[in-house]
Amino acid sequence: MKREIMTTADGSTTIHLPDWNEQYHSKHGAIQEAYHVFIKMGLSHIPITTNALHILEIGFGTGLNALITCLEAKNQNRKIDYCGVEGYPVSQEEVLQLNYATALDHASAEAYFKTMHAGKWEEKLLIHENFQLIKEEKMFDKIENKNEFHLIYFDAFGARVQPELWEVSIFKKMYEALKNQGVLVTYAAKGSVRRAMQDVGFTVERLEGPPGKREMLRATKNN
Ligand SMILES: C[S@@+](CC[C@H](N)C(=O)[O-])C[C@H]1O[C@@H](n2cnc3c(N)ncnc32)[C@H](O)[C@@H]1O
Repeated sequence: MKREIMTTADGSTTIHLPDWNEQYHSKHGAIQEAYHVFIKMGLSHIPITTNALHILEIGFGTGLNALITCLEAKNQNRKIDYCGVEGYPVSQEEVLQLNYATALDHASAEAYFKTMHAGKWEEKLLIHENFQLIKEEKMFDKIENKNEFHLIYFDAFGARVQPELWEVSIFKKMYEALKNQGVLVTYAAKGSVRRAMQDVGFTVERLEGPPGKREMLRATKNN
């Protein structure tokens, strides 16, 4: 499918899919959205006492969520083991057009971003002393992890274009992949998505959304 780089409202880039009129991030601001949904409502919600935090990302894509989490591992001084699953990796040529390292204004962001993308898939990459990454190239329906993750960043394309990724069958896999009290965050807020999460056992909260979006969801596994 055709992919084009575009600039969002906060000046950060993302990838646009003209065939679906869909983006990898919000047009209202890729970095702003990523910080709000995944860091503020996700990572920062997990008690700092949870050490060696295991995070699963559904849709590694450009690596923006991984990069900001890598910076937060330094800021919050916590160890993070991050697994990004992706079926259709972006090309090196696309990576070079993404401006996250400069837009984030952090001395090491560029080096971290390069190392993340240059590293091999299916191998553990130590990005810095507090942040380890593994990129797994596979389709989401092949995820079979059990009781492994404290936190899931659920960042699939929207239900408008990929409804099959927002149904009970995928949330059942997410529920199983989480440890007890594990948390899943997503930018989505649709009633049908919330009900699919509840059907597999999640307790679901509706939270304030990122710029341009009224609400988002956070789901917790309780058993
Ligand atoms: C919204 S984008 C993810 C954005 C990403 N989190 C980032 O920070 O750039 C959704 C991602 O899911 C991937 N994808 C779509 N369908 C998939 C599937 N069935 N299995 C695995 N990956 C899939 C796409 O290639 C895309 O990278």
